[in-house]
Amino acid sequence: MPTLNLSFDEVLTTTRAVRKRLDLTRPVEPEVIRECLELALQAPTPGSEQNWHFVVVTDPKQRLALAELYRKGASLGQEQNLQRVIASAANEQEAAKLTKMADSARYLTSHLHEIPVHVIPCIQGRAEHLSGTAQAALWGAILPATWSFMLAARSRGLGTILTTLHLDFEREAAEVLGIPYEQVMQTALLPVAYTLGTTFKPAPRKPLDTVLRWNKW
Ligand SMILES: Cc1cc2nc3c(=O)[nH]c(=O)nc-3n(C[C@H](O)[C@H](O)[C@H](O)COP(=O)(O)O)c2cc1C
Repeated sequence: MPTLNLSFDEVLTTTRAVRKRLDLTRPVEPEVIRECLELALQAPTPGSEQNWHFVVVTDPKQRLALAELYRKGASLGQEQNLQRVIASAANEQEAAKLTKMADSARYLTSHLHEIPVHVIPCIQGRAEHLSGTAQAALWGAILPATWSFMLAARSRGLGTILTTLHLDFEREAAEVLGIPYEQVMQTALLPVAYTLGTTFKPAPRKPLDTVLRWNKW
């Protein structure tokens, strides 16, 4: 499938959480999803086990069922969280940006079922009763591949968002998709669609020197 010919650094700096700029009408070819997943499988994962699975959901009824679970998850506190984040803004400019982000998050909540592809990265095992180290290894077994998928998607003109709100109802989502819940943990839901326009900017982030520590805290 054609790529946008972005440099590696451009892909790293412009892979945004895309919500309002997703094309809800343009079909996404199965081949491009396969290509992005082939690249994702090159990510690191502990040992030789490769206990990862990627459930790709295109069926409209299944997407609606997942979106309803996501909305149930959102109803548990998304609005309060968004309001808290906006209230934490250091100045008016930051508050305006956070208000925009909150609008975008609400838009996704309302429109999730219309997004043509949902990808659910899964890992064999469940984190609930593991030690901190074992939990780190389990989540770490799938998150690099998840981000690689999102980068590969961006370089092909697709937008994604890493979301977790449906996980409050993970067991119900497992039933919808036939995932064996006791053995396999869902780690995210990535809505995927072609983007409206292909230009995205680097995001404002805290200056590096406020988060960087050399040799000691
Ligand atoms: C672990 C994790 C969970 C997230 N969960 C959600 C979610 O449930 N819904 C949502 O709209 N965005 C979710 N996001 C997306 C973040 O809100 C997004 O990365 C943030 O808006 C920054 O976007 P930017 O990289 O374009 O600046 C999540 C991101 C991460 C890393």
